[in-house]
Amino acid sequence: TDERIARIASSIRVIPDFPKPGIMFQDITTLLLDPKAFKDTIDLFVERYRDQNINVIAGIEARGFIFGPPIALAIGAKFVPMRKPKKLPGEVISEEYSLEYGTDKIEMHVGAVRTGERAVIVDDLIATGGTLNAAIRLLERVGVTVVECACVIELAELKGREKLGDKSLFVLVSET
Ligand code: PRP
Ligand code: MG
Repeated sequence: TDERIARIASSIRVIPDFPKPGIMFQDITTLLLDPKAFKDTIDLFVERYRDQNINVIAGIEARGFIFGPPIALAIGAKFVPMRKPKKLPGEVISEEYSLEYGTDKIEMHVGAVRTGERAVIVDDLIATGGTLNAAIRLLERVGVTVVECACVIELAELKGREKLGDKSLFVLVSET
Protein backbone atom coordinates (compact mmCIF):
# COMPACT_ATOMS: atom_id res chain seq x y z
CA THR A 1 0.00 0.00 0.00
CA ASP A 2 2.79 2.44 0.86
CA GLU A 3 4.31 1.61 -2.50
CA ARG A 4 1.01 2.34 -4.23
CA ILE A 5 0.57 5.62 -2.34
CA ALA A 6 4.11 6.68 -3.27
CA ARG A 7 3.44 6.02 -6.93
CA ILE A 8 0.18 7.94 -6.82
CA ALA A 9 1.80 10.89 -5.01
CA SER A 10 4.65 11.13 -7.49
CA SER A 11 2.28 10.97 -10.47
CA ILE A 12 0.51 14.19 -9.43
CA ARG A 13 1.95 17.29 -11.08
CA VAL A 14 2.08 20.58 -9.17
CA ILE A 15 1.67 23.74 -11.23
CA PRO A 16 2.44 26.98 -9.39
CA ASP A 17 0.30 30.11 -9.82
CA PHE A 18 -2.66 28.38 -11.52
CA PRO A 19 -5.37 29.56 -11.91
CA LYS A 20 -4.19 32.55 -9.83
CA PRO A 21 -0.89 33.76 -8.34
CA GLY A 22 -0.14 31.93 -5.10
CA ILE A 23 -2.21 28.81 -5.88
CA MET A 24 -0.19 25.60 -6.16
CA PHE A 25 -2.44 23.62 -8.50
CA GLN A 26 -2.51 19.86 -7.95
CA ASP A 27 -2.89 18.44 -11.46
CA ILE A 28 -4.33 14.91 -11.47
CA THR A 29 -4.26 14.63 -15.29
CA THR A 30 -0.71 13.28 -14.98
CA LEU A 31 -1.98 10.59 -12.57
CA LEU A 32 -4.48 9.57 -15.28
CA LEU A 33 -1.62 9.20 -17.78
CA ASP A 34 -0.06 6.49 -15.58
CA PRO A 35 -2.37 3.47 -15.84
CA LYS A 36 -0.83 1.78 -12.80
CA ALA A 37 -1.19 4.88 -10.63
CA PHE A 38 -4.78 5.35 -11.83
CA LYS A 39 -5.64 1.70 -11.15
CA ASP A 40 -3.98 1.80 -7.71
CA THR A 41 -6.02 4.92 -6.88
CA ILE A 42 -9.30 3.22 -7.75
CA ASP A 43 -8.28 -0.06 -6.08
CA LEU A 44 -7.44 1.65 -2.77
CA PHE A 45 -10.92 3.21 -2.63
CA VAL A 46 -12.61 -0.03 -3.74
CA GLU A 47 -10.76 -2.05 -1.08
CA ARG A 48 -11.99 0.42 1.54
CA TYR A 49 -15.65 0.58 0.51
CA ARG A 50 -16.52 -2.79 -1.05
CA ASP A 51 -17.86 -4.38 2.15
CA GLN A 52 -19.57 -1.36 3.68
CA ASN A 53 -23.04 -1.59 2.12
CA ILE A 54 -22.54 1.61 0.15
CA ASN A 55 -25.47 2.29 -2.21
CA VAL A 56 -24.34 5.64 -3.56
CA ILE A 57 -21.11 7.07 -4.89
CA ALA A 58 -21.72 10.82 -5.17
CA GLY A 59 -19.16 12.42 -7.47
CA ILE A 60 -18.46 16.15 -7.50
CA GLU A 61 -18.14 17.91 -10.86
CA ALA A 62 -15.75 17.94 -12.59
CA ARG A 63 -12.91 15.83 -11.26
CA GLY A 64 -15.06 13.70 -8.97
CA PHE A 65 -16.58 12.43 -12.23
CA ILE A 66 -13.25 10.82 -13.11
CA PHE A 67 -12.68 8.87 -9.90
CA GLY A 68 -16.26 8.19 -8.80
CA PRO A 69 -17.69 6.01 -11.60
CA PRO A 70 -15.02 3.27 -11.61
CA ILE A 71 -15.42 2.97 -7.83
CA ALA A 72 -19.22 2.78 -8.17
CA LEU A 73 -18.98 0.04 -10.83
CA ALA A 74 -16.53 -2.01 -8.80
CA ILE A 75 -18.57 -1.98 -5.59
CA GLY A 76 -22.00 -2.25 -7.22
CA ALA A 77 -23.23 1.19 -6.15
CA LYS A 78 -25.08 3.79 -8.20
CA PHE A 79 -23.24 6.90 -9.31
CA VAL A 80 -24.88 10.24 -8.57
CA PRO A 81 -23.39 13.35 -10.20
CA MET A 82 -23.31 16.51 -8.07
CA ARG A 83 -23.15 19.20 -10.71
CA LYS A 84 -22.38 22.87 -11.15
CA PRO A 85 -25.56 25.05 -11.38
CA LYS A 86 -27.96 24.88 -14.33
CA LYS A 87 -26.49 21.71 -15.84
CA LEU A 88 -29.02 19.13 -14.66
CA PRO A 89 -32.25 19.03 -16.69
CA GLY A 90 -34.62 17.69 -14.04
CA GLU A 91 -35.84 19.12 -10.75
CA VAL A 92 -32.85 19.83 -8.48
CA ILE A 93 -31.92 20.66 -4.93
CA SER A 94 -28.87 22.85 -4.43
CA GLU A 95 -26.39 24.08 -1.84
CA GLU A 96 -24.08 27.09 -1.96
CA TYR A 97 -20.46 27.07 -0.91
CA SER A 98 -17.36 29.28 -0.97
CA LEU A 99 -14.28 28.02 -2.77
CA GLU A 100 -10.56 28.63 -2.42
CA TYR A 101 -11.14 31.02 -5.34
CA GLY A 102 -14.73 32.35 -5.67
CA THR A 103 -18.18 31.02 -4.70
CA ASP A 104 -20.32 28.38 -6.33
CA LYS A 105 -23.24 25.99 -5.99
CA ILE A 106 -23.73 22.29 -6.47
CA GLU A 107 -26.93 20.63 -7.54
CA MET A 108 -28.35 17.11 -7.45
CA HIS A 109 -31.43 15.65 -9.09
CA VAL A 110 -34.45 15.17 -6.85
CA GLY A 111 -35.11 11.43 -6.73
CA ALA A 112 -31.51 10.38 -7.42
CA VAL A 113 -31.15 9.10 -3.88
CA ARG A 114 -33.53 7.80 -1.21
CA THR A 115 -33.79 8.27 2.53
CA GLY A 116 -31.75 5.63 4.33
CA GLU A 117 -29.22 5.07 1.56
CA ARG A 118 -25.51 5.07 2.41
CA ALA A 119 -23.18 7.30 0.40
CA VAL A 120 -19.52 8.02 -0.08
CA ILE A 121 -18.74 11.41 -1.62
CA VAL A 122 -15.80 11.34 -4.06
CA ASP A 123 -13.69 14.23 -5.31
CA ASP A 124 -10.10 14.67 -6.47
CA LEU A 125 -9.10 17.15 -3.78
CA ILE A 126 -10.12 18.86 -0.56
CA ALA A 127 -8.83 22.42 -0.12
CA THR A 128 -10.97 24.60 2.20
CA GLY A 129 -13.59 21.87 2.50
CA GLY A 130 -16.41 24.13 1.31
CA THR A 131 -17.36 21.90 -1.62
CA LEU A 132 -17.51 18.68 0.40
CA ASN A 133 -19.38 20.45 3.19
CA ALA A 134 -22.07 21.52 0.70
CA ALA A 135 -22.24 17.99 -0.75
CA ILE A 136 -22.72 16.52 2.74
CA ARG A 137 -25.53 19.03 3.47
CA LEU A 138 -27.22 18.22 0.16
CA LEU A 139 -27.27 14.46 0.80
CA GLU A 140 -28.21 14.75 4.48
CA ARG A 141 -31.14 17.06 3.58
CA VAL A 142 -32.72 14.12 1.76
CA GLY A 143 -32.01 11.60 4.51
CA VAL A 144 -28.92 9.91 3.07
CA THR A 145 -26.20 8.73 5.46
CA VAL A 146 -22.83 10.09 4.38
CA VAL A 147 -20.47 7.33 5.49
CA GLU A 148 -17.30 9.16 4.44
CA CYS A 149 -15.80 11.68 2.03
CA ALA A 150 -12.99 10.29 -0.14
CA CYS A 151 -10.38 12.38 -1.97
CA VAL A 152 -7.14 11.62 -3.73
CA ILE A 153 -5.44 14.74 -2.30
CA GLU A 154 -5.79 16.85 0.83
CA LEU A 155 -4.22 20.30 1.13
CA ALA A 156 -3.67 19.87 4.85
CA GLU A 157 -2.63 23.44 5.65
CA LEU A 158 -6.06 24.75 4.55
CA LYS A 159 -7.69 22.69 7.32
CA GLY A 160 -10.65 21.65 5.16
CA ARG A 161 -10.95 18.54 7.32
CA GLU A 162 -12.13 20.75 10.21
CA LYS A 163 -14.99 22.12 8.10
CA LEU A 164 -16.39 18.60 7.81
CA GLY A 165 -17.04 18.48 11.60
CA ASP A 166 -17.20 14.91 12.81
CA LYS A 167 -17.68 13.56 9.28
CA SER A 168 -14.97 11.11 8.31
CA LEU A 169 -12.50 12.07 5.55
CA PHE A 170 -10.28 9.53 3.78
CA VAL A 171 -7.43 10.75 1.58
CA LEU A 172 -4.62 8.97 -0.24
CA VAL A 173 -2.13 11.85 -0.36
CA SER A 174 -1.85 14.66 2.19
CA GLU A 175 0.11 17.68 0.92
CA THR A 176 1.70 19.89 3.57
C1 PRP B 1 -11.62 22.02 -7.01
C2 PRP B 1 -11.40 20.59 -6.60
C3 PRP B 1 -12.48 20.38 -5.56
C4 PRP B 1 -12.63 21.76 -4.94
C5 PRP B 1 -11.98 21.79 -3.59
O1 PRP B 1 -12.66 22.03 -7.95
O2 PRP B 1 -11.57 19.71 -7.72
O3 PRP B 1 -13.71 20.00 -6.19
O4 PRP B 1 -11.97 22.69 -5.81
O5 PRP B 1 -12.04 23.07 -3.00
P1 PRP B 1 -12.59 23.37 -1.57
O6 PRP B 1 -12.23 22.22 -0.66
O7 PRP B 1 -11.94 24.64 -1.16
O8 PRP B 1 -14.09 23.52 -1.67
P2 PRP B 1 -13.12 23.29 -8.78
O9 PRP B 1 -14.33 23.89 -8.13
O10 PRP B 1 -11.95 24.20 -8.97
O11 PRP B 1 -13.62 22.79 -10.19
P3 PRP B 1 -13.47 21.51 -11.13
O12 PRP B 1 -13.31 20.26 -10.31
O13 PRP B 1 -14.75 21.52 -11.88
O14 PRP B 1 -12.28 21.76 -12.03
MG1 MG C 1 -13.60 20.03 -8.30
